[in-house]
Amino acid sequence: ELAGRLASHVGFLIEISRTYDDLRRCLSGDPRETHALQSLLATWHAMHTAHGQLIEDMRHWQRQCHASESKFLSLVESTQDAVVILQDHRFRYVNHRLKEILGYSPDECYQMENILDLVVEEHRPIVAEHHSRKLQGEPAPPYEFAARDHQGSEVVLEATGVVVEHDGRPAILEIWRDVTRQRQLRAQLLLSEKMTAIGQLISGVAHELNNPLTAVLGFSELVLMDGQLSDELRRDLMTILSEAQRARKIVQNLLAFAHTQESEKQLSDLNQVLHDTLVLKEYELHVNQVQVIKQLDPQLPRVIADVDQLKQVFLNILVNAEQAMVAARPPRRLEIQTSVKTCYIAGSASDWVEIKFRDTGPGIAPEHIPHIFDLFFTTKESGRGTGLGLAISYNIIKDHGGRIYAQNAPDGGAEFIIELPVQTL
Ligand SMILES: Nc1ncnc2c1ncn2[C@@H]1O[C@H](COP(=O)(O)OP(=O)(O)O)[C@@H](O)[C@H]1O
Ligand SMILES: [Mg+2]
Repeated sequence: ELAGRLASHVGFLIEISRTYDDLRRCLSGDPRETHALQSLLATWHAMHTAHGQLIEDMRHWQRQCHASESKFLSLVESTQDAVVILQDHRFRYVNHRLKEILGYSPDECYQMENILDLVVEEHRPIVAEHHSRKLQGEPAPPYEFAARDHQGSEVVLEATGVVVEHDGRPAILEIWRDVTRQRQLRAQLLLSEKMTAIGQLISGVAHELNNPLTAVLGFSELVLMDGQLSDELRRDLMTILSEAQRARKIVQNLLAFAHTQESEKQLSDLNQVLHDTLVLKEYELHVNQVQVIKQLDPQLPRVIADVDQLKQVFLNILVNAEQAMVAARPPRRLEIQTSVKTCYIAGSASDWVEIKFRDTGPGIAPEHIPHIFDLFFTTKESGRGTGLGLAISYNIIKDHGGRIYAQNAPDGGAEFIIELPVQTL
């Protein structure tokens, strides 16, 4: 643009020098006049040449600018990371990669009122602080934040930035790298490492506890056989015995938790496994006035599973449902449903067996739902709950390549859903 303007200046200059030439012809011929005019003309010519050179330089500089801008653009557009220029909390430039990461087109980005709207609420202060520190010239190291993409899913971004000039004012150029997958993997790795460590610790402790417990159980049974025992002592001993039995059950559960890897899987009929498990609890459920409603799909495909482990899972869920419902008023109803579902993932279909348990208890407090599968998480008073049941169940289902999750039914009770893959040959 500047070069264009200069060029038109030069046009003026040429025009002026022509006029002076005409003027000279009209003048009287006084050598002083001619001399003055000539030196004026020489100055104009010099200016003309200088301008021409300047224009040439500017054109060259402009070409270089274009070249480096297109180099910059092709670099920025081909990178795996999102590159953005931010000013006044708005996007001033975004490369195309941002659309792949967050799902927003450049135009949608430029229309956003505040880029912080993209950031998850709890990370907004972090991002705002990094930006203001950067603009104040303070050193700002790379940082991480979570954003929400077009669909509302969380994306973890690692941001590195510098201050640049945009439209004559300071702006922030940031490179955003999508590290969601890495963070997930790291979390999974940490969790599985932690679980392995916990498993080893537990199995060590459980084995250590087993021996003294066997002794306590054995000796109390032995003493109980003594006919001369006073009633009072007998009662106390019975308490010792039943508490020791409870302790042994916990220890066995702990051992089961630590050893979920070694399972014996075979093609199994889950309806049958459910039926067998219910038989174990039939009497207690009846005494507690729990009505069991079964809706079992007779066409349910068989799945590859360790029957004993699945029984344990079903039993844990049944016991929890029963305990939850006993705390609530009758009618108490436990619905058990099996069905088969077809899922389409990346164009290929796969069948899953779904087992759903729904009770009429008080349901699970929403803030507890993310924790109920954690080891030792319990809301029950000590003595009644150990927080082991669902953690064990989770491990077993995971080991079967399946999924277990809980939610509250629309009318209040808790719902536990297990999904297991149907292997196709
Ligand atoms: N059917 C249910 N209804 C309501 N809450 C439940 C139900 N099942 C499980 N929970 C919640 O999950 C927690 C963890 O269950 P679990 O791992 O079996 O441990 P525990 O039964 O020993 O407490 C329970 O303490 C309870 O808060
Ligand atoms: Mg339980």
